[in-house]
Amino acid sequence: MGALSGRTALVTGGGRGIGRAISERLGRDGARVGVHYASDEAAAKETVAAIEAAGGEAFTLRAGLGEPGDAEALWAAFDARADGLDILINNAGINKTLDGALRPFGEMTRGDVEHLFAVNSTAPFFVIQQGLSRLRDGGRIVNVSSGAGRLAMPEAIAYGATKGALDNFTLNLAAALGPRGITANAVAPGIIDTDVNAGWLRGNPVAEADAAAQAVLGRVGRPDDVADVVAFLASHDARWVTGRVIDATGGVRL
Ligand SMILES: NC(=O)c1ccc[n+]([C@@H]2O[C@H](COP(=O)([O-])OP(=O)(O)OC[C@H]3O[C@@H](n4cnc5c(N)ncnc54)[C@H](OP(=O)(O)O)[C@@H]3O)[C@@H](O)[C@H]2O)c1
Repeated sequence: MGALSGRTALVTGGGRGIGRAISERLGRDGARVGVHYASDEAAAKETVAAIEAAGGEAFTLRAGLGEPGDAEALWAAFDARADGLDILINNAGINKTLDGALRPFGEMTRGDVEHLFAVNSTAPFFVIQQGLSRLRDGGRIVNVSSGAGRLAMPEAIAYGATKGALDNFTLNLAAALGPRGITANAVAPGIIDTDVNAGWLRGNPVAEADAAAQAVLGRVGRPDDVADVVAFLASHDARWVTGRVIDATGGVRL
């Protein structure tokens, strides 16, 4: 019997990177995990298989986020597989523009900025708003934010703004949902070795050393460094913590 036995969790973007580590950890803790994906069905299925191989229970569900009707589609897919929810993890996110670029401030278009906000800020807003009828009293919401929400990083100016918006949303959610015993927190990772960073980080020792040096703990983060913090916030042990952004950057720019 795990600490989350009998609970149902949903992890958006749960098939890859940080989301996969969160899905697997919640599965090991005993929760039945809905592993959401947008396009990488194979990765989501692999994550479910890994959870099942470890003795847990999980299922996949698909919905594109950051587009009209996204929250409705996600909850319809969820409702087809589960009856209510205890733990909602809003992890899906992007840091690049629609065409995959990382453009400087002066060159960003309205479409670039609107797309980043649509996926990182607006989608969690409506996923939570429409999820509240499924989320049971005493439940948990954890939003995966970023150190960029508190740090000046002009090279990621719009991305940072989307995460700052998510942090403020988390604070207000905590106040709004406290009467139902629901906690709402965010976790802010630093540089984590996932697909979003693979292009410049993996196989590049100079870039890796630079990235490691940003954290006082002296290495690049791993998805499980973040997943373990999320699991704490999802657990009974964190029942008295709400409205906080927990830094999980390894001590970047302390
Ligand atoms: N990696 C870092 O260094 C870092 C640092 C700070 C914060 N974060 C935050 O951590 C979270 C996870 O990042 P990651 O590095 O694990 O990213 P990742 O490996 O690129 O995975 C992103 C996940 O989000 C899903 N997703 C992306 N766009 C989507 C959309 N439009 N609709 C629905 N799902 C979508 C993807 O679904 P598919 O699998 O279907 O493609 C994927 O599962 C993000 O919110 C990110 O901002 C990451």
